[in-house]
Order: sequence, then C-alpha cells, then structure tokens
Amino acid sequence: MDGDGRGNLGDDLRRRMIFLRSMISHPRRVGAVWPTSRWAVRDLLDMGDLPRARTVVEFGVGTGVYTGEILKRLHPDATFLAFEIEPDLASAVAERLGDDPRLRVINDSAENIEGYLDGAKADYIVSSIPFTSLPAGPRQSILGAAREALKPDGKMLVLQYSTAVLPYLQRLFAPIERRLSPLNIPPAFLFACSVTDGPIQEEVQETTGSGRLPYALGALSLGALLLLRRRRRSKKRSGLL
Ligand SMILES: C[S@@+](CC[C@H](N)C(=O)[O-])C[C@H]1O[C@@H](n2cnc3c(N)ncnc32)[C@H](O)[C@@H]1O
Repeated sequence: MDGDGRGNLGDDLRRRMIFLRSMISHPRRVGAVWPTSRWAVRDLLDMGDLPRARTVVEFGVGTGVYTGEILKRLHPDATFLAFEIEPDLASAVAERLGDDPRLRVINDSAENIEGYLDGAKADYIVSSIPFTSLPAGPRQSILGAAREALKPDGKMLVLQYSTAVLPYLQRLFAPIERRLSPLNIPPAFLFACSVTDGPIQEEVQETTGSGRLPYALGALSLGALLLLRRRRRSKKRSGLL
C-alpha cells in the first residue's frame, strides 16, 4: 500500500512493476528501484508548510507516494501540478488520484514547468528527481526552471540519496536546510532550498565518487533485515518461536 493509504495490494504491486520497468528502461532518470518510503515522504513534506500554500508543484511523481500525501495536506483551493516524464507512471497516477480537482498530472519534463503555470509562481516545488545521475544539461535546466518558477519566499523541497547535489543547489538557492531520513532504504538526504536574491554562483565543477555512503548503509540495513527475517523463520520452523 502506498503512503497515502489508497488502493489495494494488487494495484500497489502493479504500480511498483511499472516503476521497476521504467527503471530498467531509463536507469539514470528514474534512479531508484523502489518508491520512497512513507517516512521519508513525511519527513520531506514536514520541512514545508503545505496547508498554507496555494500553488504546489511536484517533480518526478513516480508511483505517486508524494502526490497522495501532498493532496492530504493541501488547502482545498490550492492548485497542484505534478510532473512525470514516464507516460505509464503518469497515467497510472492520473487514473488513481486524478479525480481530485486540485491535481493536474502532467506527462512532460519538469524543465517545462513555466509553460503550465499560466504566469503564476509556486509556493513549493517537491522534487525526488535523481539530479546527480542525470546528465548535466537536463539537471541544470530543471534546477534553473525550478528557481524561476518559485515565489520569492517559495521553497524547493528535494530528496536525494547522496549529498552530491548540494553544490548544484547552492548555485541557485540559499539558505538550504538539511536533514537525514534514516528509515528510508537507502537513508535519504533532504534539502529545503529557499530562493536567494543574491547572484547565481559560477558553474559547478563536476564531481565524482561522492555520496556512496548512503547506498552502502542502505544495502547494510537491507541485508540486516533479510538476515533477521531468515533467523526468525528458521526459529519458527524449529518450534523456538
Ligand atoms: C527516484 S524516482 C522518484 C519517484 C517517486 N516520487 C518516489 O519518490 O518514489 C524519480 C522520478 O522522476 C521522474 N523523472 C526523471 N526526470 C524527470 C523529468 N525531467 N521530469 C519529470 N519527471 C522526471 C522519473 O521518471 C521517476 O519517476
């Protein structure tokens, strides 16, 4: 079941299969094998004040784990634009949540956000796009378009699986509040980015090799969980539990 509590197990499995297929076809832009956990979704959204927002945008809807939770927190008169580049993922979420009049699921790249805002600016952009695995061109276009689309007091809430994105965010946003969501597999890094009115910094040098720690921690936690489950099962079989 997704974090929003809607749908049955079969539907949830179908959405996860679509997500996995998208990952296999476009690993660099999907960037994860399974959806974000409900804990990390809540931790990220808690860094903003969504009930006060009137225009909210999501980048990288995936199976809709954020979309459902954002709808729960959103003001009844708010507008919510949700971008997903993979057609199958976009239509699955539109089918499931699209009856909410506040939501518009858009099967287009997030960098085209301006064309859908009708001159309005966003209070929040919530993004789980894997910026560090994207090529530099799309990454810069999406981040630049996000900054342009935000109100002066708006914020971009970003989830990543490493801190490698930070230099790219720091070019455009300040201050940037940081948190860790440890229960996600792998643990997730969360950033709440305010729009700076200062100058945009010079181009960031490409970095390599950073941010492997969360993947290692994630793999270790998964390994530990599987081991515990196996031990529990074998104890059950031998009648010790
Ligand atoms: C790491 S997944 C996150 C999915 C979901 N929000 C979650 O947290 O489980 C990243 C998602 O961003 C989408 N995506 C990647 N590049 C995009 C772009 N330029 N515009 C819109 N969506 C994009 C991918 O197709 C994928 O569904």
